[in-house]
Amino acid sequence: MYKSKILGTGSYLPERVVTNADLEKLMETSDEWIQQRTGIRERRFVDEGVGASDLGVKASLRALEQARLSPRDIDFIVFATLSPDYNFPGCGCLLQEKLGMQTVGALDVRNQCCGFVYGLSVADQYVKTGMYRHILVVGAEVHSTGIELNTHGRDVAVIFGDGGGAVVVGWSGNGDGQILSTHLHSEGKYAKKLWLEAPASIYHPRLTEQMLREGKHYPSMDGRYVFRHAVDRFQEVINEALLANNLRIEDVTLLILHQANLRISEAVSQSLGIPAEKVFSNIQKYGNTTAASIPIALDEALKEGKLKPGDIVVLAAFGSGFTWASAVIRW
Ligand code: UT7
Repeated sequence: MYKSKILGTGSYLPERVVTNADLEKLMETSDEWIQQRTGIRERRFVDEGVGASDLGVKASLRALEQARLSPRDIDFIVFATLSPDYNFPGCGCLLQEKLGMQTVGALDVRNQCCGFVYGLSVADQYVKTGMYRHILVVGAEVHSTGIELNTHGRDVAVIFGDGGGAVVVGWSGNGDGQILSTHLHSEGKYAKKLWLEAPASIYHPRLTEQMLREGKHYPSMDGRYVFRHAVDRFQEVINEALLANNLRIEDVTLLILHQANLRISEAVSQSLGIPAEKVFSNIQKYGNTTAASIPIALDEALKEGKLKPGDIVVLAAFGSGFTWASAVIRW
């Protein structure tokens, strides 16, 4: 068995900043409400014609540069997104072409906010067994073209933002850092608590004018329900990960939670008893970028010098599905 580690990280955020004040012009909301309930001050939106694959490409190039590798060194792609450029083919294939890579395999992961951690887990297994040496794991989302930017959709619309993050996973030498574990969960009985109903193959046709009038092509969420489950499941999956590695919460240098809502992160860190300065947050600047939020946060944390060799970093996510997941990495 080989050991696997993260060889490089990269992120890309679109340049267009959309503040809470900008949203006040589109819907009945307020900067105060958004900040109080979510911690978000602003988010980024793409310009027209930019897809999740484009954000993934830019983030990947940065991750490759940091790993001192070229696209031709990559043996496999894992692309996590809930907002693919097209229904099919998936973003992995589009990224392969845009990066001029060899005809390597490209797997698209559909696990919403947990997509990146699920993708990291897949990459970890392939690298450990020796099947692939360098895997690009990407999380990228374009939410801005799919949310209802008016008062009716405000509970969802104020939360989400666009962005991309990527890591290169590869062999780890002796004494180097290592992905120590990943834990993945799902509970489909809550599928409709946070979902996007249409277009859907169970309907014929998949999308009708009536569905459009009813807004079924926009995400719908039972926010309070999701919030409560998120706080419980985050704690559970982090404790499960610590136990599996014989670690205590005091051993964790940095906790990177999926950036769902600052209040969720605060509740989780308080319950776990981990000091706020060990819990990374950038939701204030970018909103919730679902599958992209963890790789973006990891990249920023590294650039801010928050991780050094030997440190323990815990990644954890919760989201639509419901799905929840964690990864423990010795840096
Ligand atoms: O990525 C993982 C998945 N997503 C999440 O983790 C999100 C989890 N949930 C949440 O973050 C919170 O539930 C929200 C931020 C979405 C909503 O906060 P809340 O405190 O649960 O608010 P609420 O939905 O219970 O709504 C409270 C009030 C309602 O008004 P009434 O009925 O009390 O008069 C809403 O209509 O706030 C109103 N409201 C808003 N007001 C201003 C809902 N959205 C907005 C808004 N601006 N954007």
